[in-house]
Amino acid sequence: MQVSDALVFFGATGDLAYKKIFPALQAMVKRGHLNVPVIGVAKSGWNVENLRERARESVEKHGGLDPQAFDRLSRMLRYVDGDYRDAETFQAIRRELGAVERPAHYLAIPPVMFETVVGQLAKSGCVAAPGCAGGSRVIVEKPFGHDLASARELNAILHSAFPESSIFRIDHYLGKQPVNNVVVFRFANAFVEPIWNRNYIESVQITMAEDFGIEGRGAFYDQTGAIRDVIQNHIFQIVSNLAMEPPVRTDSESIRDEKVKVLKAIPTIGVTDVVRGQFEGYRAERGVSPDSTTETFAAVRMEIDSWRWKGVPFYIRAGKCLPVTCTEVLATFREPPTFLPGIAPGRNYMRFRISPDMAIAVGTIVMGESETMEGKPLEMVASKLPSPEEMAAYERVLGDAMAGDSSHFAREDYVEEAWRIVDPILQGPPPVYEYAQGSWGPAQVKAAVTPPEGWHDPSAVAPAALLSAASAA
Ligand code: BG6
Repeated sequence: MQVSDALVFFGATGDLAYKKIFPALQAMVKRGHLNVPVIGVAKSGWNVENLRERARESVEKHGGLDPQAFDRLSRMLRYVDGDYRDAETFQAIRRELGAVERPAHYLAIPPVMFETVVGQLAKSGCVAAPGCAGGSRVIVEKPFGHDLASARELNAILHSAFPESSIFRIDHYLGKQPVNNVVVFRFANAFVEPIWNRNYIESVQITMAEDFGIEGRGAFYDQTGAIRDVIQNHIFQIVSNLAMEPPVRTDSESIRDEKVKVLKAIPTIGVTDVVRGQFEGYRAERGVSPDSTTETFAAVRMEIDSWRWKGVPFYIRAGKCLPVTCTEVLATFREPPTFLPGIAPGRNYMRFRISPDMAIAVGTIVMGESETMEGKPLEMVASKLPSPEEMAAYERVLGDAMAGDSSHFAREDYVEEAWRIVDPILQGPPPVYEYAQGSWGPAQVKAAVTPPEGWHDPSAVAPAALLSAASAA
């Protein structure tokens, strides 16, 4: 696979570029992974000096300036200012591309602009015309559409100019090492797979909690909500990694085939399987409608109707303004039979912490200090903080896209399956209930969507409820 020989990024003066893209580009340069023209495109009345200044501010604010790497990045930067509807903007891009043959076009722009930009790229010769040799790629951001129908339309638009193998749909969770480690841990350790199924696992819960609100993104968020923003994409990627069968080969298509199979086995979610919440004060946020019914929290129950998982409920909850910022998976095992009179065994569990730190923990019961055969909970845990040398998620996904490695990107059929699962609750959503900021969502969650062992509080050291029986013994 050939590496892209230029990066054209649309939306260069926007928020995503400022928060994520410039820091990722500087890190790529530092590692020696980027040495091609980087052409920013936007309509801001800027020139390349303004873009360099913005890039400098961005890296200073997000991760720190590396003078040498930044200097090299600055020299790679080019800038085209213009309207995406104007053919002249794309002629200017074409001129900047010069002898480039395989540009990667990164659409860090709202999906409503995709059709215009992709059409213009094709017409202007930036995609498959002589000189571009058909080796160009397109990188797009999530959420990919806002429901199943719009995702299909977007796919059709992208396919009008790019083959599927040249389309890279970013879900930055796939650039996170702890998310990909779930797959490695499962398939590289002989003791995990024999018990990783419905015979041993009783339920799985995933919490993605954020202790902050919508951070000035009201206009975007109010059109989106928690289900579209993080459940349909980030959390489903975690579910796929937890539930997939071992891929028959390690190429990107074999891996992505297995992930799609997981989603295909998930029935659509019904209204009784979801509770939606909105934090108090949300409607007063800038860009939010005063009578908004957008959810900033959702708790969802779903099943995977496969040979491996049939009957094992998967519980998901995600939200803003919750008590902590943390993403964690907890798989609870079935209760073992009690062989010692009067001792209630606790449940074993496997805990994967995705962020802010990375941890894999196994909840066990061992003999306590007293002389009786008393059980006490013991969590065996391996954890680490991300090291400053590690690639950040955006660096990893951008590097992969430019190298043409699709393994960590959502394929067309995957994205459409993911929308199919949530489509009914998007089209006919259940009511939204208010919750206090700093709480675990609306009170209705307890009765309607709560795992049998209760929701685990990821800020606690170990899942107390699962072990309380053992502690009490
Ligand atoms: C983004 C969502 O995709 O992911 C945000 O739009 C969310 O709302 C963010 O806060 C979480 O990403 P991370 O990497 O900080 O866990």
